[in-house]
Formats: sequence, C-alpha cells, structure tokens
Amino acid sequence: MSARKILVTAALPYANGPLHLGHMVEYVLADVFVRSLRMAGREVVFACADDTHGAPIEIAASRAGIKPEELIARFSDEHKKDFSDFLISFDVFHTTHSPENKTYADFFYNTFKKKGLIYERLVEQTYCEKDKRYLPDRFVRGICPKCKAADQYGDQCEKCNSTYKPIDLIEPACSICGSPPVRRTSLHDFFRLSSFSGELKEWIMGNERLQPEIRNFVMNWINSGLEDWDITRDGPYFGFQVSGKPNKYYYVWLDAPIGYISATEKYMQQFHKTAEEYWKQSGAQIIHFIGKDIIYFHLLFWPAMLIGVGYNLPYDIVVHGFLTVNGEKMSKSRGNFFTAREYLNSFDPEMLRFYYASNLSKTSSDVNLDFKDFQRKINSELVSNIANFIYRTLSFVNNNFDSKLGRLPKSNEDKILAARMQSMFDKVMESYRNYNLREAVKQLLEISSLGNKYLQDNEPWKLIRKDKSACHEKLSLAANMVRNLSILLYPVMPDYCIKIQKQLALQNLAFSDLGFNFENHKINKARIIYTNIEEVPSIAAEVFPARLKVAAITSVDDHPNADKLYVLKVDLGDETRTLVAGLRAFYPKESLAGRKVIVVTNLKPAKLRGVESQGMLLTADKQGKPMLLAAPKSSPGDGVAAEGMDSSERQIGLDAFHALGLSVEGKRVYYKDKILSTKHGSIVVDADDGAGIK
Ligand code: 2FM
Ligand code: ZN
Repeated sequence: MSARKILVTAALPYANGPLHLGHMVEYVLADVFVRSLRMAGREVVFACADDTHGAPIEIAASRAGIKPEELIARFSDEHKKDFSDFLISFDVFHTTHSPENKTYADFFYNTFKKKGLIYERLVEQTYCEKDKRYLPDRFVRGICPKCKAADQYGDQCEKCNSTYKPIDLIEPACSICGSPPVRRTSLHDFFRLSSFSGELKEWIMGNERLQPEIRNFVMNWINSGLEDWDITRDGPYFGFQVSGKPNKYYYVWLDAPIGYISATEKYMQQFHKTAEEYWKQSGAQIIHFIGKDIIYFHLLFWPAMLIGVGYNLPYDIVVHGFLTVNGEKMSKSRGNFFTAREYLNSFDPEMLRFYYASNLSKTSSDVNLDFKDFQRKINSELVSNIANFIYRTLSFVNNNFDSKLGRLPKSNEDKILAARMQSMFDKVMESYRNYNLREAVKQLLEISSLGNKYLQDNEPWKLIRKDKSACHEKLSLAANMVRNLSILLYPVMPDYCIKIQKQLALQNLAFSDLGFNFENHKINKARIIYTNIEEVPSIAAEVFPARLKVAAITSVDDHPNADKLYVLKVDLGDETRTLVAGLRAFYPKESLAGRKVIVVTNLKPAKLRGVESQGMLLTADKQGKPMLLAAPKSSPGDGVAAEGMDSSERQIGLDAFHALGLSVEGKRVYYKDKILSTKHGSIVVDADDGAGIK
C-alpha cells in the first residue's frame, strides 16, 4: 500500500435526533479502520460533522417553538458526547451550518453556474396555504396512487414500495396542519447530472475497489438514464440562501457532502492550510463510509459535483448494510429501538464495538444485533478467551516472578509458535486494511486461543515447582502474546487495550511494535477488566406489550362445534380477521353485527374447537356478564395503548396478556396507573370496578 495520506469520512448524522445503535454500525466500522491506519503509521484525518439543514429540521424547530440554530446546537452537543463515549476518534467534528461550509457551497454553486452546469426550470410542488410553505415529500400524506394504501408519505408507499411525487397522492393532506395542500409552481435550479453519465460510468467501471454489487447497482441507474437534479428549495427552509435569489436555498443534499470538505477545512485551519490539500491536490486518498440508503447521493451526485469543480474523486466508498435488532428492523413499536445513550446507560461501549467488529466487513448485507448472541460472544470470546488469557498470564507473573518478565524460551517448539503467530498478526493487519473487521477479530481470537492452549499445555502451575526458570521463560513468551494482542485489538477496543498496556507498564504501542522481543521488564499489577454478562441486556424503552386495536364486527355466525361460541369476522381497518368468542349466551347476533369492539391483535393464533381465532375480543365482567370494551369516537384500525407508551408488535401468549393485569376502574381500563385510549379518547366499559380484562 502506498504511503499517501488519507482522509476518512463517515456520513454526517442529521442534527434533529439522537444517534441510535443503527448509526453506530458505521461509526464503529470507520473508527476501527481509522485506528488501524494510525496504528500502521499512516497519516490519516477522520472527519465528520452534523448535517444541519433541510425542511425537517426547520419544521421540528418551529414545532418546538425554538430557532433551528438552537435545535442543531442541542443535538450537536449530544452527538459529540455520544461519539466520544463510544470512542469514535474523529479528528474533527464540524457542522454544515458553518462559515466554511457556506464558502464551499457557494464555490460549488458558482463554479457550476460559470460552467453552464445549472439551469432554471419550473417545478410543480405541493404547497400548504395555511402553513404558507411548500411541503417536502415527507410532509404530505395521503392514499398511495398505486395500491391505494391509506396514510402514505409523499415520496414512497410503505405498503407496495412504489415511488411517486407528492402531487400524485390521492386525498393528500399536510402533515403539519392536516389541510389539503394545493399545487404551486416555483422556479428551481437544476444541476446537469445527465451530462456526467460518461464520466461517472468511467469512474465506476475503473474503480475496482468499489463493492461489485454496488457498482452493478449504480451502473444500472446510469444506463437507465440520469435525470438532472433539483438543487434549490423555497423558503421557509433552514439552509444557505442562494445569493441573488431571495427565498431560495440550497437543497440540503447539496451542502451535506460539501460538509466533508468544510470539516477538512476546519481541521486544516490549525496548520494554516486548506482542505484542497486533500480535495484538489494529488496524493491523497479520500475514503467515504456510508449506509446503503445513500448510495445514490454518494456514487452519482457527489462524484458529479466533484468532477464539476475539478476536485478529486473518492478513492473508495465503503457501503454497509442496516442494523437489525433481534432479527427485526429497529422500531419503537417493536421495543427494539435503542439510542446510543440508552445503550451507554446500561452497557460498556467497547463490548458493542467488539460485537459489531465481529460482524462487519465490506459488504452491504445487514448486521444483526441479537442480544443473546451478544451475551454469548462477550462471555465466550471476549471474557473467557481474550480477557482470561491476559489476566491468567499477567497475574501469574505478578504472583510468581515478582512481576518481572525474564528471557524468552529458545526451544524450537516455542520459536515455531511465535513464527506462526507472527504470520497471524500479518493477517489481522491485512484484514483491517480490507475493512474486514470480522476476519481481524477471528484471527485475534485464534491467537488468544493459542495463548490459552500454550498455558494449558505447559502447565506453569506445575512447571514452576519442577523448573522455575523454564517456567519463567514460558510466561515471558505468554506476556509477549499479551502485548501483541493489546496492539492488535487496539483499533476495536482502544480503552481496554490501553488498560492492558498499563498493566504491562507500556504505552503508545503501534503495529511496528508487534513481535517477540519483550524481555526483562517489570510489569504492573494485573486486574480483571471484563467479567461475564449475567443477564441478557434489556434496555428496552417502556413498551406496552399488547397490541390492541379498534375493530368493527362485520359478521357473526354460530360456531359449528361449540354452542357457547360465535365465529366473528372483524374489520381492522387494513385487514379482516376471524375471531372466536364466547358471547353466544349473552349477546344475540343482531346486537353484535356492526358494533365497534377492542381486539388484541398480537396474540398467538389459537384453535378453538377446530376454528382458528386470530386474536381476542376484550371484555370485562359486570356481575358475571362479559361486557364489551368500546372506543366511542374511534374507527376500525385505530391503535389502543397505555398513555405515552408504544405498543409492541411481538407476538405474545394468552398468559402474557393476562399477566398485564388490565383492570376496570370507573368505567375506564387501566394498565398499572395508565388509562388505555386511542388518539380519540379513552376506552370505556360498563363493568364492575376492579374487574379484570379478558
Ligand atoms: O442520511 C443521512 O443521515 C444524511 N444526513 C447523511 C449525509 S452524508 C453526507 F453526504 F453529508
Ligand atoms: Zn399545513
């Protein structure tokens, strides 16, 4: 590998929300890579910033009644704290709302303009006359024009995945005030992306470092014809105003990647240099880490922009997949959504770095954080293998050799083992260079296993009685293995490795210090740093475990095999289900048809006398009669939950449902001290106080 200097970037997080464990996948991947470069003696700058512009930020601030500047300042502080606690070692963490970014954004825009790469075109948009603003895609909701699913965003249907324009939605409504938006035209600037097809193709085809699946993907886009890119937005908008164009702003995706440059600029200021050292002059390598959701921006728009101003193209773009937690997409309603801070409040950051590293390589496949697997990995790999080997070795030296290391053994066997390990060190370093953290960790575990086996085979606790000096040599070799591990594991677990190096009475080790030449040295006292995780992490936000919905009974039939049961069909808004309910003795059919009731929709389906019940209709007792729960103002499909809690989507059993202890008090239904309600009001039932819900 050449000795050129390197600039590494990770995607800029939006400044309108907290970082979550999904974000951390990328930052850990990039940070481990960067730290491995530093350990290899490479000159590297790791740059990032908050992505602060755009309509969502402006709207969030206006909803919170604060200035966007205030909102982004708040999140910037939070983000910096989270990054630092996760040991993400940015050399600079800047913001896109900075003078540096404004200067570069203007430079890009003006250069495009000069080169004829920008032209004006009228665009038709959705506009809310009440809020007096153009509504971006995510702020218009309505019925999908393709599949007719209700309540979809203005850009893409979550049901059928088709994409469209907000103006294509059926019965569109403004997400801010609910009123129907109108269509309005406005003059925007377009960047001639289409004129870059040839150069982009050449770059994609010529860059063999890019992941093959990503290259194919992007080539398909180019081959199917690139459309020019709308790079301005109308106010009110939070961003940089386009000079000479009142009420027009650069689209957030124009100045966001420019944030990579302005962060570099910020960093270079201390040396009285500019970002062009990296971005314009030859001799630097730019490496971007991104998630697979922003490929389009980074492999088409961004390179075209760079070509447009005559800047360097990225040397490599590492695209990773999404995070799933316990096998599912993270979501608040599933109770598997964790912010970085929630994790940090309960767990050690380096354990997550270790876990992520064990699962990451240069691929866009998703990464799963499974808490059982997390516990197993930490206990059996980090604690029992690595940490245990380190502690066994160092504490043995403390206790038997007055903390002193002696000479290394000279036997062939020992030399062969050292040589074998040396070649494994090379593999670890090579794996880091190839972003293959998973392989690096695997090799590290093998090295550590060999270390454990070495102790096991040599039985120092016996050998010390037979031949103390031979035993001392063996332990000294084992201490060399510890030292090497503390160097190689450092990119993944920097704090832990610094602690181990302190125990070894060493510091600032680099890859060039790897080897077996550490002799006649006094070490410090060994301490246990990691112990087993006893309990599977449960850091879930408070979640209401049952998923309840308002349903309308559409038909009632007698159960064919049971004279106390009805078979009901209910409408849940977006689906129909069959329920079996023991109401026949209490309600005539006519009194049920058309009635709105409350149904548990996440119960495991159960067969009742041969008919499958796909949920349970809820009742509470009034002097022995099951009274139906009702939601007077609500419609079928409306969710019912305890105040302020999200409902789980996980399936539960009947016992788990009863364990919730839902009960009636004053005709309201309570979960602990919280009333169950829909967004339209409380659930009611004419039942006895204290009656349980069945
Ligand atoms: O998708 C996102 O979260 C964006 N904020 C990433 C921006 S990366 C870069 F282009 F600025
Ligand atoms: Zn509105």
